[in-house]
Amino acid sequence: MQAFTKQVENFLLHAEKTNRLRSLEAPPENLIDLCSNDYLGLAKHRRIKDALKTGVDLYGGGSTASRLVRGHRGIFAQVERQTAEWLGGEAALFFANGYAANVGALSAICDSSYVAFIDRLAHASLVDGVRLSGAQKVYFRHNDMQHLGELLAKHRATKAIIITESLFSMDGDMAPAGALIDLKTKFDALLYIDDAHGIGVYGDAGCGLSPREADFRVITFGKALGLEGAAIVCSDASRSYLLHNARTFVFSTAPMPAILHAAAVAIELVKGMQGERERLQQVSATIRNAVKDAARMKSSSHIVPLICESEAAALELAGRFAAAGFHTRAIRPPTVKESRVRLSLNSNLTAEQAAQIAGLIGAA
Ligand SMILES: Cc1ncc(COP(=O)(O)O)c(C=O)c1O
Repeated sequence: MQAFTKQVENFLLHAEKTNRLRSLEAPPENLIDLCSNDYLGLAKHRRIKDALKTGVDLYGGGSTASRLVRGHRGIFAQVERQTAEWLGGEAALFFANGYAANVGALSAICDSSYVAFIDRLAHASLVDGVRLSGAQKVYFRHNDMQHLGELLAKHRATKAIIITESLFSMDGDMAPAGALIDLKTKFDALLYIDDAHGIGVYGDAGCGLSPREADFRVITFGKALGLEGAAIVCSDASRSYLLHNARTFVFSTAPMPAILHAAAVAIELVKGMQGERERLQQVSATIRNAVKDAARMKSSSHIVPLICESEAAALELAGRFAAAGFHTRAIRPPTVKESRVRLSLNSNLTAEQAAQIAGLIGAA
């Protein structure tokens, strides 16, 4: 007990000294959102709000149990079928959120006989899932397919899995889908791709960036779809396997059915939001083009990191955005190596606001 008290004290002291003490703050209502993942503005869409209310009327509050006990309802299966059809997959399994999906699925898919090849910048939930599985972890350099190929050749694992994201949330750059499929095929590896930031924003009818050839495609409902939850799109047999073995699925109360009721509406809405997708791409291009240091700017998407010389500079830049009426966040080590203000853009931004943001970047 005493040791833990000391541990907490040391941690808090260090965080304070290094100006990294975090606090929880509700978003300022008077500032324009440049840091949420509500890429298409669906979280406040009237039809989503109405669907949630109707869902509560239909199903009540909580699901009351895990899906394998009494938590399952027809709406879960309906949304899973709808998701699989939308993304051109065989089947899908819904999870409470993306973190639970990745940790549950990866720890069920792999065991200590696997070698897991993970992009160096992959999301914590992907790393944690592999960690929990006991698989041998091998990191490849971020988006470096030559390095991945060398590592696959070196390890020659009989059970290999490649794990990456389609669109990286800290840099806004995309994984090379074609090269990933080639390597998957050449080395007979499983391919697991997390499309949390691509779904809804890219592809025909917003179907995202993950290639259909991937064995497991993760999408989340908490970002462009404006809700919460996640689905893993995979073969019918893999869905059955996960349903039995993904511990975050088996041993957890099923999400509120009302969320699924609204998710069915969100999918249909997103399919028809081509105009919003195009507007978001235009706004993003205007803002990306304003970044002077093109060599350090890898983004080709609606996620635009403004890399700063120091943590203090990132905080100062976020302050300048706030003074101009925009809510941004400084992201600093240990979350990222290089401090930055990360702009997460959304389709509600106007061309005038994009020009204003570009001006702020230009003046930085
Ligand atoms: C790539 C990626 N995967 C998974 C998650 C986790 O998803 P969720 O927020 O639904 O738990 C996130 C972020 O939240 C993410 O950026």
